[in-house]
Amino acid sequence: DDAYDEECDYLFKAVLIGDSGVGKSNLLSRFAKDEFRLDSKPTIGVEFAYRNIKVRDKLIKAQIWDTAGQERFRAITSSYYRGAMGALLVYDITRRSSYENLRKWLLELRDFGGQDMVVILVGNKSDLDQSREVEKEEGKGFAEKEGFCFMETSALKNMNVEEVFLQMITKVY
Ligand code: GTP
Ligand code: MG
Repeated sequence: DDAYDEECDYLFKAVLIGDSGVGKSNLLSRFAKDEFRLDSKPTIGVEFAYRNIKVRDKLIKAQIWDTAGQERFRAITSSYYRGAMGALLVYDITRRSSYENLRKWLLELRDFGGQDMVVILVGNKSDLDQSREVEKEEGKGFAEKEGFCFMETSALKNMNVEEVFLQMITKVY
């Protein structure tokens, strides 16, 4: 509420990027509202969610921009990145192409992201290990090469979701 907002020490803006269907919206709804949907619709343009969190002694209002993975629903990309201090770059461990497309997302990050933006590489859908197409070591290797942190998550099973957002935020403050 407003009273709480006034007590916040910092506003933290972050973006969620990655191919369509990798689970960005569900990671965010899990983090912000503890909700998950099996039948979620593709994001059109951009959506937002907020959550207030305490890091050490600071109250931080996290504003997360959930962007559309589908090219035709993306617009004004530069505005997504403006002022963003962190990014979660997400792929789906069961879809190889979403991992291969990380290269494309890196180009966008380089064009629009700030110099000292904290980026976490996220391999989502770890609950579907039997359909895995990307090994954990590959994700880890990619992240190491780019200087990113790395985690596998499951929005469905609520595994590492809190951790991945908190890691991004605590790296900044
Ligand atoms: P765009 O908005 O089009 O960019 O897609 P998105 O990245 O936001 O994907 P979304 O969160 O809408 O999820 C796509 C599908 O994957 C949905 O059917 C989700 O239920 C499913 N999904 C998301 N996260 C997980 C997960 O951790 N495990 C499993 N098994 N399914 C997931
Ligand atoms: Mg979405």
